[in-house]
Amino acid sequence: MKKILVFLVVAAVVFACGDKKESASERILREKKEKSAQIDKGLGLGEITTVTLNDPLDDAMVRSGKAIYEMKCAACHKLKGSRVVGPSWAGLTSKRKPEWIMNMITNVEVMLDKDPTARKLLEECLTRMPNQNVSIGDARDILEFMYKNDIDNPS
Ligand code: HEC
Repeated sequence: MKKILVFLVVAAVVFACGDKKESASERILREKKEKSAQIDKGLGLGEITTVTLNDPLDDAMVRSGKAIYEMKCAACHKLKGSRVVGPSWAGLTSKRKPEWIMNMITNVEVMLDKDPTARKLLEECLTRMPNQNVSIGDARDILEFMYKNDIDNPS
């Protein structure tokens, strides 16, 4: 409770000291513009705006990503070859930006409604990928595994 109070006080001070207050409609407009810029850049929609890639890949992350894949994703996604329920992951990391992939994993409902690339996939697959409650950390491990898959199974 105390922590929340401190936070509120700090937030109020920061807010009050801001040069110019933004009205609610200005904020909505700004957020809309930011979102469409994010889509235009192929980053998808969601919390992920930048991803730093590892070179070489992080083996522990690859192992963790593989385990999550086997538990939560393998029923619908193959690592090479063609589509099952969802598209194969072959070549995924050269087709899409890492930010897009992570937003697709962690923010799938919004992506399927608003991101043109995701909507196109939905038209092809005719099944909505379910939200699997994957944390951002787990999604990052899955991404690492996807890069490893594209090295091991070049398409
Ligand atoms: C019940 C089936 C199902 C499961 C389980 C599933 N997906 Fe999907 N996934 C889909 C479908 C179907 C699509 C295509 C978009 C659509 O129609 O919703 C898709 C699309 C994707 C894409 C975009 C692929 C591309 O070609 O751009 C990614 C990335 C993805 N899924 C990741 C995951 C991850 C990670 C998991 C596990 C945590 C997972 N999916 C679990 C069905 C599934």
